[in-house]
Amino acid sequence: MAVYCGRACRKYLLHLAHDNVDFRLPEIKALLSLRNRPFDTSETFSEKSPFWQLKGLSEDDIRSVMSRTVCGKSSFELWGHGTTTDELRTSLLEYPAENMAPYLQQNSTYKINVYTFNKTLVFKDRIKKIDALDFLPFKGTVNLKDPEHIFCLLEDYGSDPNDIPEEPFHIFFGRWIADGQRELIRSYSVKKRHFIGNTSMDAGLSFIMANHAKVKADDLVYDPFVGTGSLLVACSHFGAYVCGTDIDYNTIHGIGKASRKNQKWRGPDENIRANLRQYGTESLYVDVMVSDASKPLWRKTAQFDAIVTDPPYGIRESTRRTGSHKDIIKPPEDFSGESHVPVSMAYHLSDIFADLLNFAAHHLVLGGRLIYWLPIYRPEYCEEMVPLHPCLTLISNCEQTLSSHTSRRLITMEKTKEPEVCEAFLGGGPLV
Ligand SMILES: C[S@@+](CC[C@H](N)C(=O)[O-])C[C@H]1O[C@@H](n2cnc3c(N)ncnc32)[C@H](O)[C@@H]1O
Repeated sequence: MAVYCGRACRKYLLHLAHDNVDFRLPEIKALLSLRNRPFDTSETFSEKSPFWQLKGLSEDDIRSVMSRTVCGKSSFELWGHGTTTDELRTSLLEYPAENMAPYLQQNSTYKINVYTFNKTLVFKDRIKKIDALDFLPFKGTVNLKDPEHIFCLLEDYGSDPNDIPEEPFHIFFGRWIADGQRELIRSYSVKKRHFIGNTSMDAGLSFIMANHAKVKADDLVYDPFVGTGSLLVACSHFGAYVCGTDIDYNTIHGIGKASRKNQKWRGPDENIRANLRQYGTESLYVDVMVSDASKPLWRKTAQFDAIVTDPPYGIRESTRRTGSHKDIIKPPEDFSGESHVPVSMAYHLSDIFADLLNFAAHHLVLGGRLIYWLPIYRPEYCEEMVPLHPCLTLISNCEQTLSSHTSRRLITMEKTKEPEVCEAFLGGGPLV
């Protein structure tokens, strides 16, 4: 006989979006770790599958993850699972009746949805599948428009659109709990953003970065290559105070040539603060400044909860840093003055990342995260190319392919040591 089953044996099913596949695991892990929860899956777990079974969690944990995830589409309390309809039936009959009962009451309303991955079913076949569930003790009334409880039969037909099997590989049945935040991708689309530039970060990826960074309410987040502030927009959505710097005077001041078609010059109030105002988070705007990331202006004690950034790649925009004539021309012996005229110098990619990691080691709180994009030439890439730092632990490294030869990797690091400790350990040598 099935017995009552609390958190220890309840399972939850996550249905994940099938884009940005590499980014899903670090996102869900980060969101669970915000609640100090482990990521514990079924034995059959496959990272590439759109369906993940999670164990050892409560419904509140799942609701909390769904309130932030952009990789997760929806979540269910899993009542049964099988590789055939017979197996599903056996599994459902084994599920504790006490766990089902509150949702099957006579005075309640419900509906059952059918979702198929990698196959489209005609209406008649969907109804057949719902009718086949009549062995479940539903006592309520069907209400398709506004039901109290929603159940879902989910079928997985694999991921090869050229080889769709007759029968699904996996069938799940569960009670719907909550949907994820996919809607943010549309509502925060840069197409509708007040202030944009040529390299404004896509809304979905900005939210994924904020989630990988574990950004939360009242955090202080910094972007040293802030551009038009897309990453600040996403971080402020989760309640963080935000600030940034950029070498480009026009971008910081919202002036100069517009990036939109049919618009020559940026209009008044086209700036980062106005972007936050557009989404109702202006109160979380700290400030932005013109500054060169190779010459940080922060005092030693400045500390950020997260650094979330998209450094220049030199593909769509130049990698520049300020220099002075004395960096280039060796002054004559008898030269006594100093040049203050900033000139632009090449800022090599390896220096950008070494500076960024060093900055993060000194200016993140312990446990704070650095999230950034690393451009990659795919034929030559190997993991050893990812820059490391003794004070920062590599958490994840996810690829977004841009072309057959190029990609960028989203790197997540966590500060696990103070630089003084690392320096003492290394005998005071350089950190990068
Ligand atoms: C990829 S873009 C960032 C785009 C930004 N995430 C957005 O959504 O608009 C990189 C930015 O780095 C800035 N940049 C280039 N060299 C820099 C430097 N040495 N210090 C600070 N910012 C720099 C560029 O002006 C550009 O705005």
